[in-house]
Amino acid sequence: MNIILFGAPGAGKGTQAKLLVEKYGIPQISTGDMFRAAIANGTELGKKAKTYMDDGQLVPDDVTIGIVEERLAKEDCGKGFILDGFPRTLHQAEELQKILDKLGKTIDKVVVLDVDDNEILERITGRRMSRKTGKIYHVKYNPPVDENEEDIYQREDDNETAVKTRLKAYKEQTSPLFDYYKNLGKTVIINGKQEVAKITEDILRVLDSL
Ligand code: AP5
Ligand code: ZN
Repeated sequence: MNIILFGAPGAGKGTQAKLLVEKYGIPQISTGDMFRAAIANGTELGKKAKTYMDDGQLVPDDVTIGIVEERLAKEDCGKGFILDGFPRTLHQAEELQKILDKLGKTIDKVVVLDVDDNEILERITGRRMSRKTGKIYHVKYNPPVDENEEDIYQREDDNETAVKTRLKAYKEQTSPLFDYYKNLGKTVIINGKQEVAKITEDILRVLDSL
């Protein structure tokens, strides 16, 4: 099962992806997580990505497409994968198509998580992450039980200024992809403003019938 999770920053892609990983046993491929891991490891890729990410801008396509191509060729993608945060430009979508053609794979569904802008800001500024487990929390909606045990931190780009740039990048560069995939008859829109479990239920209903 090859899935793209699509949605604005803070729409809940990471939260839902982790639940789908558990359910289907296929990997989550999050370009944002891959860049953050590269930054934590101090690699050249990380240094390059950081200059864009901290401001909330997209990392250049050539860099991003390269890491996804490498990741999709790995053996654990054999049963399927969940792309989270990729593609994000029309060029990335076209290049993804070429990569999948070479691998003999196709995208089965593009799951769009639909959330309003006003909710996005609250979700993102309240998000906390665990360095230890990679779990995603929210100070109000899903607080960690033990902050020290979980080694909780806040993402560098989860501030109001960067969020505004991220939303602008989403509207200008990423949202045109919605029509691209709609025209291919692959999209399903899920109401992302519901409780986490209800959203998962709606997604599973679609994916289980594939
Ligand atoms: P990335 O890490 O992908 O960030 P993003 O797209 O901005 O999305 P987020 O991770 O902020 O949100 P999410 O949808 O995963 O929401 P989450 O589940 O965490 O990218 C970061 C940066 O990397 C980009 O800005 C760019 O620079 C670069 N990058 C990455 N991919 C790229 C690409 N393809 N091309 C170029 N550059 C790229 O949830 C958010 C919060 O809400 C959490 O606190 C969560 O607990 C809470 N929450 C989730 N669901 C609910 C719910 N139903 N109700 C209440 N709260 C909820
Ligand atoms: Zn995410």
